[in-house]
Amino acid sequence: MATSLKNWKTVNMGFGICVYCVVVRIDVLEERLNVNVEGGKKMAGLIKGIKSVLIPDVHINDKGYAKVYEPVKKFIADFKPDKIYLMGDFADCCSLSHWNLQKRRKMEGLRHKKEVANVEKEIKYLAKYCDEIVWLEGNHEDWLNQYLDKNPEMEGLIEYSELIDFEKYNIKWVPLNTLHKVGHLFLTHGMYINDHHAKKHLQKLGCNICYCHTHIPQTYGMNMKMQEPFKATCLGCLCDFKAPYLKGKEGNWINGFAVLYVAKNGEFNLYPVDVINKRFYWNDKRYD
Ligand SMILES: [Fe+2]
Ligand SMILES: [Fe+2]
Repeated sequence: MATSLKNWKTVNMGFGICVYCVVVRIDVLEERLNVNVEGGKKMAGLIKGIKSVLIPDVHINDKGYAKVYEPVKKFIADFKPDKIYLMGDFADCCSLSHWNLQKRRKMEGLRHKKEVANVEKEIKYLAKYCDEIVWLEGNHEDWLNQYLDKNPEMEGLIEYSELIDFEKYNIKWVPLNTLHKVGHLFLTHGMYINDHHAKKHLQKLGCNICYCHTHIPQTYGMNMKMQEPFKATCLGCLCDFKAPYLKGKEGNWINGFAVLYVAKNGEFNLYPVDVINKRFYWNDKRYD
């Protein structure tokens, strides 16, 4: 039976209200979750298609970086991404760690100045091969904020945004626990660390989410009848396997990074790449 004009108006009005509700709901959520949309909120859905590389947890310190990061640097030189996302803990900030500040033997010889020089050298390298670097703050970079909370007189003297020329290298800084939206995917450093962290991220955030932080790759997907399919993907890390705090005990960190394509309409493909024995394969080539 054909819908009468009167009924059609009702249906149409209902749809309008429904769309309005969704828009309001998203706005409320974005406010609550501290969401950062690339290109501004008005640009959501109009993002130019990009190819990018996601670099998790390099933990550069005053000694430099772990060897496992080397093949990823070579890949970046070949791949020439539009953007590079530093997924957090790019800098280790070990000389200002709140865990060890009172432990003088552990802190002996560590120098923030050396770490900053090493980090800048690597930023300079990355900036040669991409148009923009998006640096998501990790909990390690946040150690600097925690240090400043106790030592406010040092404000302006230890932060990466003050010590490295972000404008020169076209770096965008994304504060800790912000959800950075790239097309239909959100990026963040990582919020939960239990055994089933991917499931937890998906259940708590309810969106396509890519993170690192745990240093243990994991994926969890949900395909609910009334929703789009969503996935949470945790990348590995690009640092050495054993954390000093494990004191020789076995850890289960795994090395990896990811390539991300985001189309103009927001659709995306995320390709996590395992780095095994400090090497990986991409497009018929071995990187080591
Ligand atoms: Fe980390
Ligand atoms: Fe972390």
